Amino acid sequence: CKHVVEAQQFGPEALHAIFAEAAQMEKVKPGTAEAKVLDGRVMATLFYEPSTRTRLSFESAITHLGGTVLSTESAGEYSSAAKGETLEDTIRTIENYADCIVLRHFQAGSAKRAALVSSVPIINAGDGPGQHPTQALLDVYSIKKEIGRLNNLKIGMVGDLLNGRTVHSLAYMLSMFEGVKMYFVAPKVVAMKEEIKTYLTGKGVEWEEVDDLNAVASDVDVLYMTRIQKERFDDMKQYTAARGKYIIDTKVMQQLRNDAVVLHPLPRVDEIAVEVDDDPRAAYFRQAKNGLYIRMAIVKQCLLGC
Ligand code: CP
Repeated sequence: CKHVVEAQQFGPEALHAIFAEAAQMEKVKPGTAEAKVLDGRVMATLFYEPSTRTRLSFESAITHLGGTVLSTESAGEYSSAAKGETLEDTIRTIENYADCIVLRHFQAGSAKRAALVSSVPIINAGDGPGQHPTQALLDVYSIKKEIGRLNNLKIGMVGDLLNGRTVHSLAYMLSMFEGVKMYFVAPKVVAMKEEIKTYLTGKGVEWEEVDDLNAVASDVDVLYMTRIQKERFDDMKQYTAARGKYIIDTKVMQQLRNDAVVLHPLPRVDEIAVEVDDDPRAAYFRQAKNGLYIRMAIVKQCLLGC
């Protein structure tokens, strides 16, 4: 597990090991030997795009295990990238100062590029409209905790399925389980990527594109909502048309089974009404909390070995 670049690199055994480690991480207490296991280790967080959850949960993760963090505020603006330095040169420099590099970048494929030149583990924290593999790990961990199983699962992925890197990684990761059915609910301009649909078909995964959010809500175990990604649109008219087409509100929640949950990688804009937050099936803040434990597990594995 030297680098974490894409969801497809994880098989069932790797997932089992990460989830078992994450469950242990939930019990780590300050002052114990486990809380010092990464003493002296340094993580660099290199973020060229905004982040709240991913960056802070990674920084919290290594701090909880006794390590320290190097960071630059808004790497595109305040690192030497602003002077024209290539990503490769930046990575070749930071590898001298840190034991692992958590990278968020605006270009799909950037984490793979970084991994090709790095002597220390690169952890993909989101590469443009590409992938967000550690988000998929925490999403699948959350589904396991909330629903109690990963096989024979019905999931509705809703929103920006073209640009949403979280749904790309999640679709790849869930494809390894038996009997999974995926519904894709998206405005046409941001329909699920063709290469992912082709991959799923090749793996024998059942998937369907559906317009009716209410119908999907009544059939699924997990309703996974995503934000329409304004920053990826060239044409703001298309963004305006896509935004607001699908919203989870109390009416949609009335369709959802009592044992189903709503997940969202966050941040949200208005695609889940705030009135839904108090519903016990709204699991997105519990999901964000799981990000800490999953990232503690990943960082520990990357720095100490699997
Ligand atoms: N889910 C997620 O990636 O959130 P941030 O953009 O806040 O890191």
